[in-house]
Amino acid sequence: MKVLIYSAKAFEIPYLEKANRKKHNLTFVENALSSETAMQAVGYDAISIFSADEACFLTLEKLKDFGVKYICLRSVGYDNVNLRAASRLNIRVANVPAYSPYAIAEHAVSLLLTLNRKLIDSNERVKRYNFNLDGLVGIDLNEKTVGIIGTGKIGSVMAKIMNGFGCKLLGYDISEDKELISNYNLRYTTLQELCELSDIISIHVPLNSDTHHMIDEDLIFLMKKDVMIINTARGAVINTEDMIDALKKKQIGALGMDVFENEKGIFFKDQSQDIPDDPLLIQLNAFPNVLISGHHAFLTKEALTNIAETTLYNLDQWSKNKESDNELTDITT
Ligand code: NAI
Repeated sequence: MKVLIYSAKAFEIPYLEKANRKKHNLTFVENALSSETAMQAVGYDAISIFSADEACFLTLEKLKDFGVKYICLRSVGYDNVNLRAASRLNIRVANVPAYSPYAIAEHAVSLLLTLNRKLIDSNERVKRYNFNLDGLVGIDLNEKTVGIIGTGKIGSVMAKIMNGFGCKLLGYDISEDKELISNYNLRYTTLQELCELSDIISIHVPLNSDTHHMIDEDLIFLMKKDVMIINTARGAVINTEDMIDALKKKQIGALGMDVFENEKGIFFKDQSQDIPDDPLLIQLNAFPNVLISGHHAFLTKEALTNIAETTLYNLDQWSKNKESDNELTDITT
């Protein structure tokens, strides 16, 4: 198959080429998919996209006209694809449902530890030979309560890691994981109670109409004043304006985020010479107790290998006129 890989990054191309084993004709472009860049897909059977690409109805209609039959996401999340429109247009869509929940959960823990122990500030001081310790006090995580919102693949790894730290676990999810209850003593509760009781809150739900702005001023109001919130899921699960208000009012202790509500068009490229004019990002960057990474929780060798292999598996299945286990669209051919 002729496949156009949108949003191709130098770090992932070798993994995709290796997994391809020269079976498909892959073309890599740096551009993200949008209604403007859909044109590039003329003559391709399939495209592959990542989280910053936008497959809205208009873009999908264009892709259909250009002959694209398949879309494989190189991501777990698929909030950027209008699946209903894709099904109607007979464009088959598949994702990589699990490539390494460890990569994301371990990154969430990295954000938490870095914030708690103020490692960035500490390292900046040491680089200037300032060994003063004032302002670097953290807390023991042992015995603290960690609230996990979304106890699926990533959230359950997060629960197990935090159990290893000696933390008490609370969970909120629309479906309960019995193993977390019996083996890790996690207690499921309401979102409100989780927010009230947790010292640390880690978010691992997908972005959908139910989870959009799930964390808003009403929930933040219930939280402990020194709560640490970690979001490696999707930016818009948090109402960013409410969060900034809470940070200004010192209603929360710290915020670690790998994802940002307005990250599309900003993340994944060097913007240091043309600083993005996003007032929310500029404000967040100004808080000493906010730590932002640029959506790179997935960036481990193991995850990149699995993403590439599953993406190529999806393409292989389609090229053999078979279904992929990872299909998100419901198309009867
Ligand atoms: P998963 O599907 O295994 O788990 C999601 C959990 O959220 C499920 O247990 C589900 O029941 C629960 N859930 C869904 N809607 C809910 C609602 N309205 N209220 C409460 N619980 C709800 O997904 P996984 O693999 O754990 O990934 C979670 C999210 O992490 C992905 O959707 C994606 O957006 C994000 N992600 C971020 C990455 C990054 O690099 N920062 C990389 C991979 C995923």
